[in-house]
Amino acid sequence: MTTTKVFLDMFLVLQLLLLLLLLRGAAADDSRVPAVIVFGDSTADTGNNNFIQTLLRGNYTPYGRDFAGGVATGRFSNGRLAADFVSQGLGLPPAVPAYLDPGHSIHQLASGVSFASAGSGFDDITAQIFSAVTLTQQIEHFKEYKEKLRRELGGAAANHTVASSLYLFSVGGSDYLGNYLLFPVRRYRFTLLEYEAYLVGAAEAAVRAVYALGARRVRLPGLPPLGCLPLQRTVNLAAPGDCNRWHNMVARRFNRGLRAMASRLSRELPGAQVVYVDVYRLLADVIATPWAYGFEDAVRGCCGTGYFETGVLCSLDNALTCRDADKYVFFDAVHPSQRAYKIIADAIVHAASHRPE
Ligand SMILES: *[C@@H]1O[C@H](CO)[C@@H](O)[C@H](O)[C@H]1NC(C)=O
Repeated sequence: MTTTKVFLDMFLVLQLLLLLLLLRGAAADDSRVPAVIVFGDSTADTGNNNFIQTLLRGNYTPYGRDFAGGVATGRFSNGRLAADFVSQGLGLPPAVPAYLDPGHSIHQLASGVSFASAGSGFDDITAQIFSAVTLTQQIEHFKEYKEKLRRELGGAAANHTVASSLYLFSVGGSDYLGNYLLFPVRRYRFTLLEYEAYLVGAAEAAVRAVYALGARRVRLPGLPPLGCLPLQRTVNLAAPGDCNRWHNMVARRFNRGLRAMASRLSRELPGAQVVYVDVYRLLADVIATPWAYGFEDAVRGCCGTGYFETGVLCSLDNALTCRDADKYVFFDAVHPSQRAYKIIADAIVHAASHRPE
């Protein structure tokens, strides 16, 4: 009978459609990240330092001049940071709110939060030098956040957010620059290799701590070529204007340790996906061939003379500050421009799309 056949065909087609819908739903659910949860230093502080007693704040012009509404939010750049672009890249809000900002409700923080504090490090002593929030304290804030989430969303939804979010650690530069290489506080206690081992150990402890609290997807961007920050070129007495090759080597060595630790924890911790992101190679390439990425200057920062200004020094002489920060890899003598952060974020999001090794 032809009617039976038509019905059978329709039945098959419906079944196929249902199957496709189920597959799509499953795929979408599996890969959907409910929030980006950020720990770190000035490369990830989206405004926390505005609410603590510290001199390290980026809440004045020219910081934030290309942020929505031209607001200086506390981000040490002309606009958004890598964490913000990672959030947007995952289909979440375009900016990650700062945890310590009382203006954000827990409902807003449920789709992304930054605990980062400018001047912080893997080494808690680094944060103490700058009166920043230590990484240990940032993880305490994360615990508090989990509890607030549970009260707001209920246990099951809070557990889902904690288990499926992307955890980003953007930290380590201040340990070397602020605590060892330029200001040698820790040099009195550790040799360079000892300090490297100490920092990698502290990074591992931090990842284990958030894992114990329910985190599974962790991203660890490595250090950038520290010796090529504009300030580092300026104070390079051996070869003024050039990258400090010694400091670059220090960053590469630390990164090797970080990468090995990340893959070890991915194997050791059930369900964990701890992914190292090679920011060094990416930024080294941008700095070597800036024009290939649409930049015109990779040597000086945009603000002031571009040779040494960062923090409050950046606000002193706005007349010298560049017009178009998109042409600069660095916005100040230490921190990337918004457009450089977007390139870093793309690498982090791309790394996130891979299954664990
Ligand atoms: C959430 O996770 C905690 C810790 O793993 C567990 O004790 C609790 O039962 C979970 N809550 C719900 C509602 O699933």
